Formats: sequence, C-alpha cells, structure tokens
Amino acid sequence: MARILITSAIPYINGIKHLGNLVGSQLPADLFARYMRARGHEVMFICATDEHGTPAELAAAKAGKPVADYCAEMHDVQAEIARGFRLSFDHFGRSSSQRNHHLTQHFAGRLADQGLIREVTEKMIFSIDDNRFLPDRYIEGTCPNCGYDSARGDQCDNCTKQLDPTDLINPHSTISGSTNLEQRETKHLYLMQRALRDKLEAWIDSKTDWPVLTTSIAKKWLNDGDGLQDRGITRDLHWGIPVKKGDQPWPGMEGKVFYVWFDAPIEYIAGTAEWADANGLDDAAWERWWRTDKGADDVTYYQFMGKDNVPFHTLSFPATILGSGEPWKLVDYLKSFNYLNYDGGQFSTSRGRGVFMDQALSILPSDYWRWWLLSHAPESSDAEFTWENFQQSVNKDLADVLGNFVSRVTKFAKSKLGETVPAGGEFGPQETALIADLGARIRDYEALMQAMEVRKAAAELRAIWVAGNEYLQAAAPWATIKTDPAQAEAQIRLGLNLIRLYAILSQPFIPDAAATMMTAMGSDDWSWPEHASDALRALPPGHGFAVPDNLFRKITDEERTEWQARFAGVRA
Ligand code: 2FM
Ligand code: ZN
Repeated sequence: MARILITSAIPYINGIKHLGNLVGSQLPADLFARYMRARGHEVMFICATDEHGTPAELAAAKAGKPVADYCAEMHDVQAEIARGFRLSFDHFGRSSSQRNHHLTQHFAGRLADQGLIREVTEKMIFSIDDNRFLPDRYIEGTCPNCGYDSARGDQCDNCTKQLDPTDLINPHSTISGSTNLEQRETKHLYLMQRALRDKLEAWIDSKTDWPVLTTSIAKKWLNDGDGLQDRGITRDLHWGIPVKKGDQPWPGMEGKVFYVWFDAPIEYIAGTAEWADANGLDDAAWERWWRTDKGADDVTYYQFMGKDNVPFHTLSFPATILGSGEPWKLVDYLKSFNYLNYDGGQFSTSRGRGVFMDQALSILPSDYWRWWLLSHAPESSDAEFTWENFQQSVNKDLADVLGNFVSRVTKFAKSKLGETVPAGGEFGPQETALIADLGARIRDYEALMQAMEVRKAAAELRAIWVAGNEYLQAAAPWATIKTDPAQAEAQIRLGLNLIRLYAILSQPFIPDAAATMMTAMGSDDWSWPEHASDALRALPPGHGFAVPDNLFRKITDEERTEWQARFAGVRA
C-alpha cells in the first residue's frame, strides 16, 4: 500500500466553473484519486477555492456584498456543485483560511531568512478614474511576446508568457476601460527566483517521466532568457493575506497583501491542515503528507491542472518550497491538460459561453458528464465539446453498451431463472476465452490509469464493456436455454458477475452507476479484480440480485437541439 497525495488546481472563487475548467483539473484528479483508493492505497485528495485577488473583490462589489461574505457563500456553492459531480475530495478548503494565512506568512518569512526576498520600490500602474492601483489582470494590452491584443497584465492567454503589467503595449483598465493611467511609486517584496534557477533546473531535469506538455512549458520559461524573473509576491489590495514575516510585522509593508499566486498553491498544504482540523486531528496528521522529516518521504505527490497553470507549479511554487530551506514535499508528477473548446469556439467565463457546472447537472446526472469529459479529456491536444458528440457517446457507450448489457442480463435472469445467481453448468471455452481476454484488458486498464492516460483508460474500459456485450450476443442465453438450460445458467452466472466487475472497474469514471450496479448485485465487495477468473466467480450460486432501474437513458435529437440553442447564448 502506497501513500498518494493528490491536488487539483484550486478554482477561483468568483463564479461557477465551466466544463472546460472541470476536465482540466478537478475531474481527472478525482478519477485518479478514486482509482488509487480502489487499489487499496492511502490517498489524500485536496482541493479548495482560490479566494484572493482582485477578481474576488470586484465580483463581491458587483454582488453588493462584503468580500468575505461573498467568498463564504461562493465557497459553499462550489462545494455543493463539487458534491454534485461526485468529486471525492478528502477536503475542499479555502485559501482564505487561517491555516493558509499562517503558512503563507511562514513561507515568506523563511524566504526572507534565506536571503531570497528583496524589497523593490517600483512604479505601478494607478488608474486615476478607478482610484486604485490596477493589479496585473485588470490591465489589458498587447503582448510584447506574441502581439496578442488582449493579453492580461499577469499572463498572456495566447502564448502563456507570464507578464508584468508594465510590459504591455497600449495598456488600459479593464475595470473602467480607462486609459487614464499613471505610474506611482509603491514598495513590494520580490522573490528572487533567479537565484534558484539552477536548483529548479536540476529538479525539472530529474523529472524524466513527466508529460511532454508539462516539461516543455517548464523548460520554455526556464530557458527563455527572461523566463525566470524575480517575482513580485505582494500587492496593494485590501483583500488577501496581510504581509507579515512569519508572525512578525514586516516594516514598510503595512496594508499590503500577498499576491494571490503566492498564497494559492500554499493552500494545497494549508488545505491538508484544514482537513486535519476538520477531523479533530493534530498537526502530525497533515505533516506526514507534506514534511519529509515527518513521514512524507514515502508519499508520492501528483498535481493536476490546465496548461496555463504549469509555469506557476513548475517554477513559482517550487521556488517557494525549495527556497524555504525546509523539508517540504515537492510534486512528483504533474499532469497537465490542454483546453476543452465549446461548440466551435472557446468556453468563456467572462462571456458566459458554454456549459457551466451547475447547468450541466440541471439537465443530466453527473455520470453522463463525467463519462463524456473524461473519455474526451484534452490530453495530447485541445479537444472540443459538441452536442452531437456528447449525444453519440452517451447513447452508444453508456446506454447501448453498458446500460443495455446490465438490463439484458438482469431482466433475462429474473424472468427465466429467478432472482438469485443460477447454479447450473460450467464455464466452457467461450467463457474461458472471455475471462482471459478480460484479464489482459484489466492489466492494460490498470497501466493506463496508473499512467494517468485518461482517454486511453476510458477507451480500454469501454472495450471491457464491449467484450461483455459481444460475449452475451454470441452466447445468446435466450437461445441456449431452450437447448441446454444448464449452460444458459452458467452464461447468466457469468453475466451477473460481469456486472459486479463492471461496477468496480467503472467506479472511478461513473461512480453513481457503479453503485447502482453493485447494489443490484447485492454486494458491497469492491475488492479490485487481481484475477479475472476469481472476480468472475465472486457472486456464488444462490446469491440474490435485483434488476436495477435503467442505468442510462438516451439523449433525444429534440433535447440535443434544445440544449444546443439554450447554451449558445450568454449566461445571465
Ligand atoms: O487558474 C486557476 O483557476 C487558479 N485559481 C489555479 C490556482 S492553482 C494553485 F496554485 F493553487
Ligand atoms: Zn503573448
């Protein structure tokens, strides 16, 4: 049994996330966490809301609420939707927690002690019409790197370059649109990432098994000459974690807060501490996941995120960890994703384009979405959601293949053989061949799940469902029963055992349907099928089962057209 730490990029607090956000971090992280638990490993799966920064302040102002209240409410909204999608976090924390305040201030203090913080008096952009300093994201202009005309002050969405607002060509305030901007002097703390360049490079070079997408982005910013800039880690805002050196005041930094991207990844650690607090456990309980001097040396740490988050997780956050000089756990494997596009364009939170998590659950249960999103995860390239494709996948994979198998086996069994696993006959050559085929496929599925090859794992799972269907079609117990009733009983016995096997294997992808299958098979034995031949004999003759409700319904053409129209417009 291994110890597996899993974090998903933490979603911003302002607004409900769309399906593109979900498939790029939380959902594949959940798939992996569920799989690792199913294999008997000890898993800690942490996510949280990312609550600081100007977007949260502005969203609260728009909602007419104090920002702390707004964040508390939106956290609950996001937590509820996460439950709706069956995201199995061990804890869904908040980056505004006291734990994160303390840890963030602790790291900043340590970095200062290590000589890795310098104070910089700089000219920042002040918007006269907005009467405030304009942070990074609220200044837009043309990217000096690629020429994209809507680059934000912190990062260009087109070429992923991390930017400083003053780098932008023709900047304007996105709050008011005003170009009435001036530079004013203000003092900030800079993390001296350049001094850590060699350490970071050696660490990234040691990660020979990382996906190309992850290492190519990391190397790009490491080697691009100006790629690894010292980074400002403080901001002139009210909402955020007050700048302190550990628990001491930081002279000259009164009234300032840490930059949201400094404190957000620290919330992975703080979230685990929040988990311990929520469960009445002591510090040792969370430190054994994070401190290599306190038991975390046997932990393997996996991070999941969209590609835009990679620079922060391969350079900035590791710089915080390495620079602290303390034995904190660094990520072992970083799984990153490309973007999911929506019906011929991009998902867009700001423009409300696409399907958002709450809307998705309002039209279909989570398994339908989980299956489509995971089986189309944007791994090797960007992917696209279309309603046609969604309808086709659901109707074929879920309804025709899996759902139909379960329904045919259980209904036939009940009507012809009664409501217990039939005892007659023996497994013959057909059954032996199927068991051998499934045994090989299960090993393949395990390897793909272990490697976080999400799409390929989904394809293998589908193949496992298909194999059962093809067997049923070929064995045809409805015909066999007329000529060799004992053989039909053996076929149905295998079919019922297959349903339980499908529950176990499918659970990471479609947990609700898996639970329905397992319950219908009158079992709660979720033990992983180490040997297909044993797993397919687990339900013994005489064991009771039930016919479950239809697992999946089909999406009609009318629904597809209606949803396509409904979600084409802009979300209110
Ligand atoms: O891109 C985002 O949605 C960020 N809120 C992710 C933060 S991940 C981490 F650093 F905590
Ligand atoms: Zn650019």
